[in-house]
Amino acid sequence: MGVLGSGLGCRVTALGRGRKGIPIRLWTVSQGSMPRMHLFELQDQPGFPAVLGDAGTAYLRTLSDKMGAADFLGPVVAEALDRSGATAWVDLCSGAGGPAPQIAQKIGRSVILSDLKPNRDALAQAAREGATVHADPVDAAAVPPSLGGLRTLFNAFHHFGDETALAVLQDAVAAGQPIAIVELSERSVPSVLSAAFIPLLVWLVMPFVRPVRLSWLLLTYVLPVLPWTIAWDGLVSHLRTRNPDELRALCARLDAPGWTFEARRQAVKGPAGFTLLLALPPGSAPAR
Ligand SMILES: C[S@@+](CC[C@H](N)C(=O)[O-])C[C@H]1O[C@@H](n2cnc3c(N)ncnc32)[C@H](O)[C@@H]1O
Repeated sequence: MGVLGSGLGCRVTALGRGRKGIPIRLWTVSQGSMPRMHLFELQDQPGFPAVLGDAGTAYLRTLSDKMGAADFLGPVVAEALDRSGATAWVDLCSGAGGPAPQIAQKIGRSVILSDLKPNRDALAQAAREGATVHADPVDAAAVPPSLGGLRTLFNAFHHFGDETALAVLQDAVAAGQPIAIVELSERSVPSVLSAAFIPLLVWLVMPFVRPVRLSWLLLTYVLPVLPWTIAWDGLVSHLRTRNPDELRALCARLDAPGWTFEARRQAVKGPAGFTLLLALPPGSAPAR
């Protein structure tokens, strides 16, 4: 039995030959082996209307809540805080809050939410739920020294090309602050195919998105723009997401003596899972 070839997330394995010498081959779908494609996300485009961009991040936040992301991400943040000894926690690229406010409640820690382009309405909502919001823009690659503590990025690292991604990591290293990066998107055939269902998901989830915006409802059910803009960004997010090997290769380029970098894919349920990169400063505790 041998691997004959692989590509676009599929692997062909020769199992042997049948009775009449007919080759028997097995096609399997492999995780994270598709080529990485850094296509454009609508949300990142300078002229993209805020009404659509804000709806996208508010939808993501609602989805995090509905899928109970805090249940499986809470232990990750708790581990990063415990092992690094950090006493504060700053969430970068928070969008509408993502899973951070729910995680904070779950593990009983406080979090400061921040973003390069703060979505004020949604962050005000998160503040009502107990999170602290940093009102001024914060660039994940140049975090002000006043924001110390563990840095987290949920569903955001794939937005960055390699040079910016390195700058985000190097900024954390230069500040001596641990950083945990989590991606729920994944560059695999099942995840990419699942993007076909995003328009339906947007249609189902939009009534639960807070704050309620008439414009978002109209742009979902009357003039269905949001299901398609969110689906495009979702598809591109999957195609851009780095796998653990690529994250390790990125970290190898950092100037970070004594730092520990751990990258892994963690299964949640069935084929679902997330990718984690944990960067811990010298003196951090080893994994338990
Ligand atoms: C896909 S959203 C993720 C939102 C949230 N973390 C979640 O899980 O729902 C990505 C966010 O990253 C923000 N962002 C993009 N570039 C950034 C940068 N250089 N620094 C800080 N935030 C940035 C965007 O404004 C956007 O809100």
